[in-house]
Amino acid sequence: MKIIESIPEFRSLRQNLNGSVGFVPTMGYLHAGHIALVQEARNQNSTVIASIFVNPTQFGPNEDLESYPRDLEADTVALKTAGTDYVYYPTVEDIYPPTFDTYIEVGSVTEPLEGRKRPTHFRGVATVVTKLFNIVQPHRAYFGQKDGQQVIVIKKMVNDLNIPIEIITVPTVRESDGLAMSSRNSYLSERERNAATIIYRSLNEVQSLFKNGQRDAEKLRETMRNVLTSEPLAKIEYISVADTDTLNELSVVENNAIASLAVQIGKTHLIDNVLLIQ
Ligand code: PAJ
Repeated sequence: MKIIESIPEFRSLRQNLNGSVGFVPTMGYLHAGHIALVQEARNQNSTVIASIFVNPTQFGPNEDLESYPRDLEADTVALKTAGTDYVYYPTVEDIYPPTFDTYIEVGSVTEPLEGRKRPTHFRGVATVVTKLFNIVQPHRAYFGQKDGQQVIVIKKMVNDLNIPIEIITVPTVRESDGLAMSSRNSYLSERERNAATIIYRSLNEVQSLFKNGQRDAEKLRETMRNVLTSEPLAKIEYISVADTDTLNELSVVENNAIASLAVQIGKTHLIDNVLLIQ
């Protein structure tokens, strides 16, 4: 596995690659969720490229950019073990030189849920992902269902801008008690970590209600809310049962839906979702 840090070095390497290229963009501090994306990329492509870049433009002014956890050494070992061929590890100056002044704004799917609390977040994600796509030029790119709105935003952007890359979604990888793996879980104290199990219980409950035939979206949201409020440490930020393409809130689930939620536990913002599929 080779680590590449400069854009010119990457460009010349890219020209010499034959066959399909699978790409896994990450912000590092890798766990089994990220590795599942690499494994899927490994199964489907001749070459696997991962990137590690803590992207400043997707963090708001009072968010955790400075304290975002980093461990390049462990990440390198994990990526190598999973069969990655190249790791792209750009500098902030390369991606955002002082003259940088162009951003990608995806429309209404960026407004609800995460977008409401973090108004510039998806503009940062869409911009960096476009830049990474243009540098890496993959055939396929891999994203986790864990960040459900992010997948919807990236798919919308790729479709609207005719970007010739296939977007593959990989199911959420969970801890044994159901908590979705996340780099931010490392912020939780033991007490908060225990409280965080309420998230998956809430999603499990909504999924079983849906399987039993409940199609009234407000009833589905109410169930999620009732489970979450039983945990005093969990402060609800949003609860949603929405269309899987537009993210419009539904009143009745006619086809499929995405049930998502965000809670704050202590100082940590945690998100999760499940697909409600007929
Ligand atoms: P990051 O949070 O590092 O996540 C990188 C990828 O791993 C994302 O596609 C995310 O959805 C996926 N992922 C994280 N936890 C997962 C889990 N438990 N199961 C399955 N997949 C999981 O998402 C980002 O970085 C950034 O926004 C990025 C796309 C790299 C742009 O900067």
